[in-house]
Amino acid sequence: MTRVGIIGLGFMGKMHFRCYQAMEDVQVVAICDTDKAKFEETGSAGGNIEGADAPLDFTDIGLYDDLGRMLTESKLDALSVTLPTYMHKEYAIKAMRAGVNVLCEKPMALNVEDGLEMIAASEQTGKLLQVGHCIRFWPEYVKAKELVDSGRYGKVLAATFQRLSLTPTWSWEGWLMDRAKSGSAALDLHIHDSDFVQHLFGMPTAVFSRATSGPSGGDDHIVTQYVYDDNRVITAEGGWVMTPAFGFEMSFNILLEKATIVYDCTREPTFRVCPDDGDAYCPEVVSGDGYSNEIEHFVKAVRGEDVPDIITPAQSIDSVKLVLAEKKSAALTEKVAL
Ligand SMILES: NC(=O)c1ccc[n+]([C@@H]2O[C@H](COP(=O)([O-])OP(=O)(O)OC[C@H]3O[C@@H](n4cnc5c(N)ncnc54)[C@H](O)[C@@H]3O)[C@@H](O)[C@H]2O)c1
Repeated sequence: MTRVGIIGLGFMGKMHFRCYQAMEDVQVVAICDTDKAKFEETGSAGGNIEGADAPLDFTDIGLYDDLGRMLTESKLDALSVTLPTYMHKEYAIKAMRAGVNVLCEKPMALNVEDGLEMIAASEQTGKLLQVGHCIRFWPEYVKAKELVDSGRYGKVLAATFQRLSLTPTWSWEGWLMDRAKSGSAALDLHIHDSDFVQHLFGMPTAVFSRATSGPSGGDDHIVTQYVYDDNRVITAEGGWVMTPAFGFEMSFNILLEKATIVYDCTREPTFRVCPDDGDAYCPEVVSGDGYSNEIEHFVKAVRGEDVPDIITPAQSIDSVKLVLAEKKSAALTEKVAL
């Protein structure tokens, strides 16, 4: 039995809870949140995930408001750090120093220095540190990467990724709407696509971005061109200043020499491959959702099972580095080299 704890029972803490509870031989034994009212909210994890609507049940789980006490009393194998981003470093390091493996939500940290300290703690303690870049585990994105890597449809000529959201209103003490705490939509939301661009194509040589500010006071809608040595045209657009009536959409188009791969979470069918020599088809994708697949990967790694290197701490830092370069480019309105 793998004994798991969660710190931060907000939007993502509930999502992690749901995923662990659905797994065999995993027990959420303790949860920590400084806001005790969170333990009274047994409503669903929600989000845009099918099946995430079951009520939460905290029976037989140790409920804490202090991580130190939880670590001493709960004998955890692993901890999900689902706290506001500006707290990731302090709590992730504290857990690893107490001998606990950590799954920390994305973005890893607000800056590269904090991320490096987290990696150093992981190396010093020998404890795992996985960052929650769930898009690397999202079934359609996984399949798109598999198709691109296979070379079956030739080289990538262009790709565009979008992640557009209404303004999030749920965050604890409004931390998301404070750019000093969240890094604004660029670092909080758009990083999913920057990270996937890195996953698919490696780090670009430079970025060119334009951004507009919004309710966080920072880059709340950003458009970036990722520059590579060849002529491929790679862009991503992300932000959280869409209207409530718009809701949330994530999508991509990948143009290859012999096919276009299209995903749009609001369309039906959501995922299609349109080859140059036949009809469009909907490829089979892995089961589950990005969150549950990422958590299953983490638990397997904690148990010492052999898992592929899908997201390393160094790549997680690179994604922070990438978005910070995008923010710099937007501020300077010029290309920034990486
Ligand atoms: N992977 C994804 O798709 C995704 C989606 C949303 C959020 N996130 C990330 O998850 C993290 C959490 O975001 P959220 O939306 O769940 O935030 P949230 O505001 O909903 O939840 C934060 C929780 O932390 C608790 N908390 C605050 N200080 C604490 C402390 N010192 N000790 C214990 N608990 C404390 C709050 O009471 C709250 O319950 C962020 O890094 C965010 O970027 C990831």
